[in-house]
Amino acid sequence: MVKHTVLVTGGAGYIGSHACVELLQSGYPVVVVDNLSNSKSESLARVEKITGKPLSFYQADIRDRKSLAEIFSKEPIRTVMHFAGLKAVGESCEQPLNYYHNNVYGTMVLAEVMAEAKVRQLVFSSSATVYGESASVQYSENSPLGPINPYGRSKAMIEDILRDLSAADKIIRAKLPWKIALLRYFNPIGAHESGLIGEDPNGIPNNLMPYVLQVAIGKLAQLPVFGNDYPTRDGTGIRDYIHVVDLVKGHLKAIEALESEKFASGGCRAYNLGAGRGYSVLEIIEAFKRVTGRKVNYKIVPRRAGDLAECFANPELALKELNWKVEKKLDDMIADSWNWQCKNPQGYA
Ligand code: NAD
Ligand code: UFG
Repeated sequence: MVKHTVLVTGGAGYIGSHACVELLQSGYPVVVVDNLSNSKSESLARVEKITGKPLSFYQADIRDRKSLAEIFSKEPIRTVMHFAGLKAVGESCEQPLNYYHNNVYGTMVLAEVMAEAKVRQLVFSSSATVYGESASVQYSENSPLGPINPYGRSKAMIEDILRDLSAADKIIRAKLPWKIALLRYFNPIGAHESGLIGEDPNGIPNNLMPYVLQVAIGKLAQLPVFGNDYPTRDGTGIRDYIHVVDLVKGHLKAIEALESEKFASGGCRAYNLGAGRGYSVLEIIEAFKRVTGRKVNYKIVPRRAGDLAECFANPELALKELNWKVEKKLDDMIADSWNWQCKNPQGYA
């Protein structure tokens, strides 16, 4: 397959920077657009260091139609990987309009500019958070949707918009149909094995692994474990953790699928990207000690509002249609997270 130029929106962020590494190492020229609202351009300098290859960076907001159109007119973009957006669940409940504006409106502007530039190939960062409460704790792509916070609803709305765009192609018999992969991530953790790029959260982390890392390194005193009275094997919440490098490899597999016969007449399909097995909070703490030798001080506190007891992926469709499955184990995820934390105790600062 000819390696064409890929525009990575949000490429300076946690997952986007890992995607840039994988793309460059696989021979794709990379163009990044990021407004640096939740990242630093240093991550992109590190991407170039890891790969020994340059990328083009534009500091711009995806909602800035003029700047975005200029990028599309200058660069020979064929596929867009769309990571740009806001992602904190709690913040989305406090600032719903900001989330809908960034995520939903931002994607609409991007899709409009893509259509004008005749670029119709899109890999979108969706989330397992689009799923609703279900009888089964293992989620398949056809499990019922029902997000319960503005962040999750913004992802579900974007999925609807992209499905509608693709459906319209059939009605208007589009010559150049949309080819769209909606990738529903489970819980990405870990970092590139070099320890040069990783997750650099602002302030006190919301998510489990960054919190564990900051307790282990002594920046935070104690991990709050949100509830030990769930109907799970040890009472704590169970999630499907996935190494960020496995996750971004799934995006490259998605590009290959979009370029293949499978999508010859266009389409918009959702795929779960997860390992297909879950670990509890206490199992993560235990594994962390085994892998790093560090004991994580923790305290059981009441449940966090909005948390499910258990959630993990059925990843069979991604295996069947994208030829993708996770390769890394929990110990790799922990070792790589810890390596990043130790080498960058202050993140990119
Ligand atoms: P991140 O915050 O590290 O990266 C997002 C990047 O987008 C940042 O660099 C930010 O500066 C940029 N950005 C935000 N709004 C922008 C805008 N309007 N214009 C241009 N740039 C903008 O987050 P991440 O963890 O790398 O997540 C990437 C994507 O994956 C997001 O869409 C997120 O919702 C989705 N996702 C993440 C997780 C997770 O647990 N990390 C899980 C499921 C889905
Ligand atoms: N947890 C704690 N203490 C903490 C943080 C988390 O006990 O300080 C627990 C949670 O209760 C949950 C598990 O650890 O049982 C994982 O929590 P995270 O916050 O790391 O992840 P979530 O599953 O809640 O959500 C994450 C992202 C969402 C995304 C979802 C699925 O925050 O944006 O994964 O991809 F949608």
